[in-house]
Amino acid sequence: MLTGKNILLGITGGIAAYKTTFLVRLLIKAGANVKVILTESAGDFVSPLTLATLSKNPVLSSFVSEEAGSTDWNNHVALGLWADLMLIAPATANTLSKMANGACDNLLLATYLSAKCRVFFAPAMDLDMYKHPSSKTSFEKLKSYDNVMIPAASGELASGLHGEGRMAEPEEIVAFITDYFSKGLPMSGKKVLITAGPTYEAIDPVRFIGNHASGRMGFELAEVAANLGAQVVLISGPSHCTVSHKSIRLEKVVSADEMYHAAHKNYPDTDIVICAAAVADYRPKSVAEQKTKKNDAEISIALVKTKDILLSLGKEKKKQYLVGFALETENEIANAKAKLKKKHLDAIVLNSLNDTGAGFGTSTNKITFLDKNSTIIPFELKNKAEVAQDIFSEILKRIDA
Ligand code: CTP
Repeated sequence: MLTGKNILLGITGGIAAYKTTFLVRLLIKAGANVKVILTESAGDFVSPLTLATLSKNPVLSSFVSEEAGSTDWNNHVALGLWADLMLIAPATANTLSKMANGACDNLLLATYLSAKCRVFFAPAMDLDMYKHPSSKTSFEKLKSYDNVMIPAASGELASGLHGEGRMAEPEEIVAFITDYFSKGLPMSGKKVLITAGPTYEAIDPVRFIGNHASGRMGFELAEVAANLGAQVVLISGPSHCTVSHKSIRLEKVVSADEMYHAAHKNYPDTDIVICAAAVADYRPKSVAEQKTKKNDAEISIALVKTKDILLSLGKEKKKQYLVGFALETENEIANAKAKLKKKHLDAIVLNSLNDTGAGFGTSTNKITFLDKNSTIIPFELKNKAEVAQDIFSEILKRIDA
């Protein structure tokens, strides 16, 4: 989300300035370009050399370049235009009051007044300063200028007192601004539901019927949807895959029945649903309470059908754009088309086991995307992250049309 974004970080003189080294590191790690402006007193709390090294850019403090003998000007107007977002963290009571009142006695303030981008500020001060009516007035005035406040947290303060006033943690600040950038994304405001992984159908307390699905395709789909700005619910059977994106809520299930209930619970307010799970079609008719002991006789297990989750979602479909998967070994296109129709889908993603590198247990997949208007789009063999991108770009063309 922050890749390639230009972030101008203004650091003012409070003890929380030491945390900005972590903040800069997180921003750089997230792919942002970072330039730092330090007020004079901020330099007492954090070293310009550390910030320059972490941000990979010179740190600016005064209107004239700090290099010995230089008469170059640190152009606050150019800095303001360069930034996609300006962040003032920590923002002291003094700087906030100056910002609120149009004072312009240092490079940070001049740049703030020149900035055309959205400005965020993360106050940091002692609890009584934070509560003071004049601080509150500054906050309100700045919000009325369309600046965004990242509220301070409660906790132990540098004074030893406990209360509100601690600067938000670097991770929270990054989450806040990531949210801001995500709002302009193509799937911002959309809810996406994805099923992933295998299901395990218990035979007895220690055994189950399962399959080799890794869950990777569904997890990649969730990641792409979240990166496109969607809020994602990922319902997964047992899988080693993990999620890191904060817009993905993972609901872990084991059996087809649990997946069915989780899917229906989340379905009504969902915009896009992709069923990528390899759901067991059958489950043991009864589950033995105790571990089944071996003996010399052959045994057989009676199986009954599980509920078809995708079919049931298709029957209840209202506004949702519903996508299924089909894993085929023969008559691929005809079988996929039949499933699309039978399950009331808007589209189906076909993988054929006849294609090397497609299907289960691989990091790659080769898909054909079919929609309800009989459009058939074959794709090359790609890694599953790229396949997930292809699937969402096809969906986006259709839901926006
Ligand atoms: N599916 C489901 N619930 C089930 C079975 C399948 O939601 N109980 C979904 C899968 O997640 C996938 C699609 O249905 O999106 C696959 O359809 P299905 O008819 O089950 O395909 P196959 O399992 O390949 O069927 P068959 O074995 O008959 O080819």
